[in-house]
Amino acid sequence: MVPHESGNLSVYQFGSGVDFLIRRVYCLTNLRAGTSRGFHAHRKLRQVAVCLAGSCRFVLDDGRVREDVVLNSPRQGLNIGALIWREMNDFSTDCVLMVLASEEYSEADYIRNYDDFLREAAR
Ligand code: TYD
Repeated sequence: MVPHESGNLSVYQFGSGVDFLIRRVYCLTNLRAGTSRGFHAHRKLRQVAVCLAGSCRFVLDDGRVREDVVLNSPRQGLNIGALIWREMNDFSTDCVLMVLASEEYSEADYIRNYDDFLREAAR
């Protein structure tokens, strides 16, 4: 974070917290309180999630342990490797969630069924 008299500047780049070349960036905005998203894992994709405004909660599950992480600062990047089941919830109404991704979008990379995920994660 680079402070400036008019506000802050945040930088996300390969080599400082992002250990893959960024092929895609997407943002979730206009998120409704009380809703949940995610409910999938990726076979190959790696991601870094950053909550640019507001707050949200991630549940990360590697098939053995589930952990809860609250994101509420643009200074905080959450690394999500391959074969991690994720669920997102507790969105504040002003939440802006940016995701840096190592690959282009591919539906074939998704595991959307939790039992399939457990099978692939156990291999
Ligand atoms: P999904 O990754 O399931 O969203 P979330 O994890 O936030 O719940 O994607 C939701 C829909 O958007 C799904 O139909 C795929 C589509 N999508 C794209 O077309 N391109 C993308 O880069 C992403 C991330 C999703």
